[in-house]
Amino acid sequence: MTAICIANNKGGVGKTTTAVNLAAGLARLNQRVLVIDLDGQANATYALTGRVHPVPSIYDVLVGTRQLDTVLWQTNEENVWIVPADGRLQHADVELAARPGREFRLARAVSGLDYDYIIIDTPPSLGVLTQNALAAATDVLIPIGLTEFSVIGMDKLESTIDDLRDGLNLPDLEILGVFATFYEDTTTSRETWGLLEKKFEGRLLETRIPKNLDLEKAHRANESVLSYAPASSGGQAYAQLAREVKKLASAHARGHERRHA
Ligand SMILES: Nc1ncnc2c1ncn2[C@@H]1O[C@H](COP(=O)(O)OP(=O)(O)OP(=O)(O)O)[C@@H](O)[C@H]1O
Ligand SMILES: [Mg+2]
Repeated sequence: MTAICIANNKGGVGKTTTAVNLAAGLARLNQRVLVIDLDGQANATYALTGRVHPVPSIYDVLVGTRQLDTVLWQTNEENVWIVPADGRLQHADVELAARPGREFRLARAVSGLDYDYIIIDTPPSLGVLTQNALAAATDVLIPIGLTEFSVIGMDKLESTIDDLRDGLNLPDLEILGVFATFYEDTTTSRETWGLLEKKFEGRLLETRIPKNLDLEKAHRANESVLSYAPASSGGQAYAQLAREVKKLASAHARGHERRHA
């Protein structure tokens, strides 16, 4: 099983949009996908189900009052399931602070699940929720919004994730790659893309997610863009991202099996 944590402590770079549409893209490649919404904004939950801050949610699993399989729902997408979030997660940092193994609560809750992919959406911070996501993941995927502003500090994000990997002792966790969102056919966008290519040599995915209003509209219609507007530039790009991620994740999983054989 491949578990992908979508992480970036910058807000509004397309984490949730990616979680939802990558999940739908992988499902269309005949994969069974579970999305875990680990953000108290509960945007992925809304985008995939239309439900607003449902209770119970993943919060109840993290604090230990529910088993994960009792808060697992079907979504509007075939072959995509979700463990929803609600606003109480915003207090999880405080709530979990004094609990033993607080960074490993999600990892424990998902162990033994049988999906091809778990996709974890995280809040715009690297606090205890994102740490739980990293500890439960095999791979990390980092979306970067193509404005100069959001590229600044990105090398620091990678080293912070490296530090967390060491601190939490997750030697097999792999940064699957970095990819561009909000791409536009403008000089600035092309230049920033060039900058990313240099900075993340070998780790920058080929797929660029264009700036595309259909992504926002699909979200409001509680559908993936692959259902809502499959022919749109956003729909095509997320279908391509799913193919690219599947290829990279399979290679990582094979390498992992060899190392542990
Ligand atoms: N490629 C895109 N083109 C146009 N709009 C987009 C694109 N990606 C995301 N959006 C829109 O931009 C907003 C922010 O995207 P999203 O919620 O996915 O970011 P996020 O990183 O999850 O934000 P947060 O850090 O707050 O969780 C949303 O309204 C979303 O619909
Ligand atoms: Mg989000």
